[in-house]
Amino acid sequence: MDGVSTPVEARHRALLEALPDLVLRLGADGTYLELGGDLSRLANPPELVVGANVRDLLPSDVAEQLMRGVAAALSSGELATVNYRLRPHMGELRDFELRIAPVAAGEVLAIVRDVTDLHEAIREVSESRARIVTAGDAERRRIERNLHDGAQQRLVAVSLHLHLIRKRLDGRPEAVPELLDAAQTELALALDEIRELVRGLHPRVLTDHGLARAVRTLAERSLLPVELVSLPEERLSSSVEAAAYYLIAEALANAAKHAQARLITIRVELEADHVVVEVADDGVGGADQSGSGLQGLADRVAALGGSFAVSSVRGAGTAVRAELPL
Ligand SMILES: Nc1ncnc2c1ncn2[C@@H]1O[C@H](COP(=O)(O)OP(=O)(O)OP(=O)(O)O)[C@@H](O)[C@H]1O
Ligand SMILES: [Mg+2]
Repeated sequence: MDGVSTPVEARHRALLEALPDLVLRLGADGTYLELGGDLSRLANPPELVVGANVRDLLPSDVAEQLMRGVAAALSSGELATVNYRLRPHMGELRDFELRIAPVAAGEVLAIVRDVTDLHEAIREVSESRARIVTAGDAERRRIERNLHDGAQQRLVAVSLHLHLIRKRLDGRPEAVPELLDAAQTELALALDEIRELVRGLHPRVLTDHGLARAVRTLAERSLLPVELVSLPEERLSSSVEAAAYYLIAEALANAAKHAQARLITIRVELEADHVVVEVADDGVGGADQSGSGLQGLADRVAALGGSFAVSSVRGAGTAVRAELPL
């Protein structure tokens, strides 16, 4: 906007300059009349724009969309909205949303907003939501299979044994003790399997005694040496305790499976409004963050509004770190 001196015009100009969006004043025929706001979003260098026509400067499909919006705003007298993708003169292809308001006969004001980051964030949220649902389904199938193939079959066998025992009591009672032994064995195995399954669902020690005790249990069970650098004893919300626990459990499992590490260090630190959870190993590095285990952790942390990072340079170990809001 060129230098103007009246207070109203000065305010108008200050307003435009302060806007985070690009502002265009356009004629009904698509001539650029005036520019303001963030000019880096223009498809062309600003000095080429005023006085030129939309159809000369923009790709034809984008120009047509824009002109349809201009025509709609002018004929209805109401706001029209148009979305398109365009490569600004500075930078990469971006998504834009245009709000076009009629100003006077033959003239509109268009606010051009860069919505790329917003679209990206929405896409990430809907993708992670889908992954969370899929992971839940897969987990239910795993439980169903485990119960079906394990405890359920054993209980069927126990029931069969009891049936046989009943029959033998009349005819061949001497066979009963052996059948009782077999039934008892099957029952014990079924109990073991259910216990194992339940432990994998949600560790009891976490619910009953909190993160510190649960992490010490993980560390004791680890095949690799673990150094617990810091581990607060305070109880945290159950979702934060669970996220921290599963992160540590997965990182320990990964280090044992993939890292050829000599030492794993675990650090859990309470800050003012978040808790930092970090597991580092001194192994081979090169972790793939898109793997199902690490992606699942990223989704779990994102669902709590936390941040998640894996740093894993080949040859320099792996560190998995999350910040979870309290
Ligand atoms: N600490 C680590 N050191 C070296 N490589 C790792 C480490 N953690 C993960 N990786 C590599 O990154 C890949 C992805 O890890 P992720 O945990 O997502 O999957 P996974 O362990 O293979 O399977 P899942 O966790 O679903 O059982 C692994 O297959 C492994 O190749
Ligand atoms: Mg894994």
